[in-house]
Amino acid sequence: MKALVLGSGAGGGVPQWNCGCRVCRMAWDGDARVKPRTQSSLAVSADGESWLLLNASIDLRQQVLATPALQPKGEGRHSPIAAALLTNTDVDHAAGLLALRERQPFTLWGTQSTLDTIGANRIFDVVGRDVVPRRAVKLGEPFEPLAGLRLELFAVPGKAPLWLEEGEVKTDQIGEGTVGVVVEAGGRKLVYAPGCAHVTGDLKTRIAEAHALFFDGTLFSDDEMIANGLGDKTGRRMGHMPVSGPGGSLEELSAYAHMRRILIHINNSNPILIEGSPEEAKVKAAGWDIAFDGMEVTP
Ligand code: MLT
Ligand code: MN
Ligand code: ZN
Repeated sequence: MKALVLGSGAGGGVPQWNCGCRVCRMAWDGDARVKPRTQSSLAVSADGESWLLLNASIDLRQQVLATPALQPKGEGRHSPIAAALLTNTDVDHAAGLLALRERQPFTLWGTQSTLDTIGANRIFDVVGRDVVPRRAVKLGEPFEPLAGLRLELFAVPGKAPLWLEEGEVKTDQIGEGTVGVVVEAGGRKLVYAPGCAHVTGDLKTRIAEAHALFFDGTLFSDDEMIANGLGDKTGRRMGHMPVSGPGGSLEELSAYAHMRRILIHINNSNPILIEGSPEEAKVKAAGWDIAFDGMEVTP
């Protein structure tokens, strides 16, 4: 199995179009210590020819341009992208479906809840259901979106997408709205959970059986958006547990130091994106890698 990080950034990417925070400013200025990053997506393949997208990033077109493996082969219409699966319906994870119009067959996978949300928004009908079948999968039931690639979805705590928030928002709902994915091929397993409000027992069980983990690295500190004057929400209010601090991912997932652990979906406010920063050093000392666009992982 091969996994390619198409987008390692969270919503907004790095730099974000309207942001001059410390990390974005360095990226705008071309400082080599900050790599530009597109928004959240992973591609996986068992044979290097057919690929499954784990999330369809709003930056998908740019990601295809940067990734030869995903470009058309031969003449006429073709794409190595044979399937796409959505882990939730956040804009960064789902809006890239609109880049997959032009009547190219592939299969769209997700929970019934995710497909219902996409189905209720008519703009996504531009990806014609006659060429792109939508296949609902149940939590905990293995399925094979591509030959040789076995997947299973499981619930991770999360919230409704920002664009559907109303009233009081529950930030750690367990259900079909936010899922993690186990991908298995050739006896190797990876777990992908780009959004997660807290670590559950079920998630720990899944991680314990895997060879590689791609995990939510949105914010380093829960209050970093507020402390930097970038917004009024904590990470937890956004449905993301922080990397550091009590109940953060370094602490909660410290038992899995023997496996490859990679932070992904990293917000531009997160100082781990500055190479040489104390925060980057802390994450690395704890045995974690920091995903970057173009990173290749063989679990
Ligand atoms: C998130 O990960 O919290 C969302 O992508 C936020 C957003 O929609 O901008
Ligand atoms: Mn996001
Ligand atoms: Zn920024």
